[in-house]
Parts: sequence; structure tokens; C-alpha cells
Amino acid sequence: MCGIVGYNGRAQAASILIDSLKRLEYRGYDSAGIAVFNEKTLEVFKEKGRIVDLEKTLPAVSGTIGIGHTRWATHGKPNKINAHPHTSGNIAVVHNGIIENYQELRDRLTASGYTFVSETDTEALAHLINHYYKDNLIDAVASALKDIRGSYAIAVLCGSELVAARKDSPLVAGIGDGGNFIASDIPAILKYTRRMIFLDDLEIASVTPDGISFYDVNKKPVEKTVKTIEWDMAAAEKSGYEHFMLKEIHEQPRSLHETLAGRIMELEGTINFEGLGLSESNISDISRICIIACGTSFNAGLLGKYLFEYLAKIHVDVEIASEFRYAHSAPGSLVIGISQSGETADTLAALRVAKSTGCRTLAIANIMGSTITRESDDVIYIRSGPEIGVAATKTFTSQLGVIYLLALYFGKIKWTINSDQMKRMLTAMKQLPSKITRILDNKEMIKKCAELIASSNDAYFVGRTFNYPIALEGALKLKEISYIHAEGYAAGELKHGPLALITKNTPVIAIATKGQTYDKMLNNIKEIKAREAHVIAIANENDSEIEKYVDDVIRIPSTEDILMPLLSTVVVQLLSYYVAKTRNCSIDQPRNLAKSVTVE
Ligand code: M6R
Repeated sequence: MCGIVGYNGRAQAASILIDSLKRLEYRGYDSAGIAVFNEKTLEVFKEKGRIVDLEKTLPAVSGTIGIGHTRWATHGKPNKINAHPHTSGNIAVVHNGIIENYQELRDRLTASGYTFVSETDTEALAHLINHYYKDNLIDAVASALKDIRGSYAIAVLCGSELVAARKDSPLVAGIGDGGNFIASDIPAILKYTRRMIFLDDLEIASVTPDGISFYDVNKKPVEKTVKTIEWDMAAAEKSGYEHFMLKEIHEQPRSLHETLAGRIMELEGTINFEGLGLSESNISDISRICIIACGTSFNAGLLGKYLFEYLAKIHVDVEIASEFRYAHSAPGSLVIGISQSGETADTLAALRVAKSTGCRTLAIANIMGSTITRESDDVIYIRSGPEIGVAATKTFTSQLGVIYLLALYFGKIKWTINSDQMKRMLTAMKQLPSKITRILDNKEMIKKCAELIASSNDAYFVGRTFNYPIALEGALKLKEISYIHAEGYAAGELKHGPLALITKNTPVIAIATKGQTYDKMLNNIKEIKAREAHVIAIANENDSEIEKYVDDVIRIPSTEDILMPLLSTVVVQLLSYYVAKTRNCSIDQPRNLAKSVTVE
């Protein structure tokens, strides 16, 4: 996944494609490539690294139709072979998203005589389109799309035909002067046109030099509306959101969907972690886990502790990486390192210590090919896509997505959960992205509460059991982007000290969703209210009890009790964002902080 561009017109395509790809550089990528049809043959150029590296290798390429891509690896290492476009005969394909049944397609196409050269899911798509191609690219693409499961935005080049399609991954068509465009993101083509048409799911676009036609998957023509984009380039990069953080918060339905894609078989009650080297017998033998991480990833790890202990009955220690490496050891444990960047120096050093003492290591990471993923025995990618805001948001919910699945997977193998529980949990997990959308569509109460917090000097987040890590994450988010002093506490711990700090001037955000400790949480809220603090509760939508005890209630959709923390997370992210915005803070680049902390 990352950036797609396509052009069919009267100008030379290569320079337009390179220029358009450069406008997507801010999103991050690990390789880039273009394919151009030069009226006789298909020419493909790709390179690992930056677009300038690709540019340096490009000969004078002649041709007025082509496609281009910046890749951010999800299937297969970041290298030249895995870079897009992928080809099959005269067909070239660029793709964002995940083809969930790619292994099945790969087996089928291999049996039909196709040879695979890359490790990507996209190559299966190229061969599949070739398999169906007779003399019309739209027909071939439409047939191929019926065979694939998963998410995609694709642009396909074959001779003088350019066809694009989407499902669950953005794609926009642009109407230019003397040529037309396709792109995954508006900024790519904003220099060339402001007249754009947004494709909807399961729509196909055929781009010619003179126009763009749209079809559904049954090749029935579809009428589309042209929109004029008024954004400047800076707004376009953020898809019109004021900050990357807000954009990334809103991307969570899609990023979580990608995290779960192809891994959940809810009807069978099974989970598939592609390429995980831990066998069932390895997992049966695990009696201790040690999770190592920093910051937000640590908070994800802490929820992991609750989940592994509850679902798989495995004892878990969670250690701050910078402490573990000097003061702890984990003999006999499976050591799980959680890191978005995969480059955090403290986490890397702690994993090296663990490995040197003979522990098996498993990385949960976002960036494919990062140091931590290369040095760990096993890796599970969270597949969130690039995150630009310093504050981790969508990568946190994707980390949680993987951890929930892993704890369930271990529980199934250890017979600590039965098949009905498993099916119920997996079905509920599949519904989480749409529940996040509902939270994102109802932000008024969150904004109102943020205004109150914005004028405070201190704020407290409290929760019990599964909600406690989200209290820590809420406090971390608030302090890092709004500079308000904030703490997260296990609510039962307040009376052992922190309650002395609670006054009418200290708003308290109580994560009070339904679960085994709900009644205890109500008691803690009463203790807080007795000190006159303003209490904002995050609660289930159908909870009619909570409003008796608190000042404000932010209601969220209900799901399985132990999944509620993932939904509460979105609320604490938005609360922190709107507080920081009210205080006019530098939200995407908070003072003193960096996205990737590569020093110890
Ligand atoms: O890349 P990592 O997940 O290893 O980064 C660890 C922390 O630096 C990171 O989670 C940090 O706390 C967040 N950016 C805070 O929002």
C-alpha cells in the first residue's frame, strides 16, 4: 500500500507520473516504480528507496500512458522485486490494500502455469487479470475482481488501456486538459486538475485521453458527479483535515480493517497469522510471556497482559524497555516487543538482551523491514499504513487488534476458550471498524468535554482492569499534545494516594464501560465526586445508571466487554486532540518529541 497514480493523455507520461508520486512522498514509502506503454512495449522501472533514486535510473521514456506507485510494504520485504508495478505479460498493476485470498490465488495461478517472482499479493492480481484477458481490459479486470477477497485500489495498464477500480481503499479520478488521471490521493494530481470524481466501492474507471467512464463490477455504466476541489496543497495532504493526527484518528475504521483483514475466519472460529513461525506445539509450551515496549506501545502491551492472562491463562510481565534491559530478565518466556516504528532504540536493545539470554522473540510492528522486525524470531505486522503525526493513534488501535487476535489464538490452542466464545469474539471484532465510525460521526459531546478540560492545569484518567491501559494512554495523549499535566490511574488505587490531588479543579475522565468491575468503578466515581471533581464518564450507549453519578457522559457503541477498551481509545484520542486544538498547540509535532526515538 501507499500511493497510486495513473495518466492517459497527450503529454509524456513518465515525468507526470514521477512528479505526481513526489507529491505523495510526505506519506512515507520504501520503494517506487512506474510503467509506461511506449506504443510498442510495456516499460517498467522500479527502485528500492526514494523517488529520486528511481529518477536517476530512468532512461528517456517515451509514451503518453502509464501508472506509478510508491510502496509501503505489507506483504514481502521492501525491495526492488516487491516494488510495484507488478506485471504479467503486457499487463502492469499497481495496488493499495490487501488481497486476503492471495495464497489461494497464487496456488491456483501457479498450477495454471504462471510464475511468481515477488512475495507480494499484488502479483497474483496481475496474473489473474492476465488469465482473464481476451481483448478488453475492463472485462478482464471485472472478472478478476469477482475472484478476489480483500481491499484494493488498483490501476491497471495494458497497451493503450488504463483501468482502475476500488474497494475499501481510496481512489480518485481527475479530469485534466489534454489528459486524464487516476490517483489514490488528491495531492498527487492537484497540480494538474481540480476537477475530480471519487470512485465508490466496487466501481471501475476506464481512463482515456478524452474522458473517463465508470462501471459497476457487472460492467453496467455508472453516472458520477464531478467535484471541484478547493483545497490548497497543505490541506490536500491531510485530506482536508486540519492535522495529520485528526486524519489518522479518522482513518481508524480502515486501518483496523486492514489489521484484521484475512486473519479472522469468524464462521469457523479460526485465526490465521500468515508466516508466524510459532507452531501450535511451541504455543502449547509457553507458560510465561514478557512484553517489552515504550510509550503508547507499552500501553498496548499492558492491555496485552490483561488479555493473555484472561483469555489464554498465561502469566505476563510487561516491562518498560529502557528498564528491562538493565534490571530485568525473562528466562523461559516468549518475549514480545511492540513497536510501531520498529526502530525504537530502547525496545531494540531490550529485545537483544532477551535474545542473548535464549528467549524466543516476537515483534509486533508497523514498518516492514525495520530493525526490530529483522532481528526478531517472528513478526506480526499491524498494517496500519504510514502514521505521520507524532502522537500514535491508528497504530495503537491496530496494535490492540493484533494483540486481541494473538491472545485469542493462544487461548484456542491452550483450550482456555471454547469454539463458541471464539466465534462470538471474532464476529464482534469484525464489527469494530463500523463501531469506530459511529464514534467518529458523533463528536459533539467529546468536543464539549474537551472545552472544559482545556482550561484546567491537571486532568486524571481512571479505569479498572481492561480499561486501565486506556486511562494511561488517554493521559499520555493529553500530556504530549496539549501540555496539560495528566495522569492515568487504576481507579482502585486512587484512595491510596492520588485522591489527595482531586479537587473541583481537576477534571477526571472515568472509563466506565460495562464489565466485571463496573460496580466497583461506580464506587470509585462516587469517591471522586465527593471531592467535587468534574467527572466525565466514557460509558456504553445503553447505560442508564451512570448518568446518576457523573457530570457528563460520552456514550459509545456496545460490544463484547473486553473489546470496549478499543472503542474507548478513540474517545480519549479525540478528547486530547480537541483540548490541544482549543489551546492552539502544535498538534502534529509536539515540543521535545520525535516520531521515532532512535536514541537511548
Ligand atoms: O515506535 P514505537 O512504537 O516503538 O514508539 C514508542 C514510543 O516512542 C511511542 O509509542 C510514543 O509514546 C508515541 N508516539 C506517543 O504518542
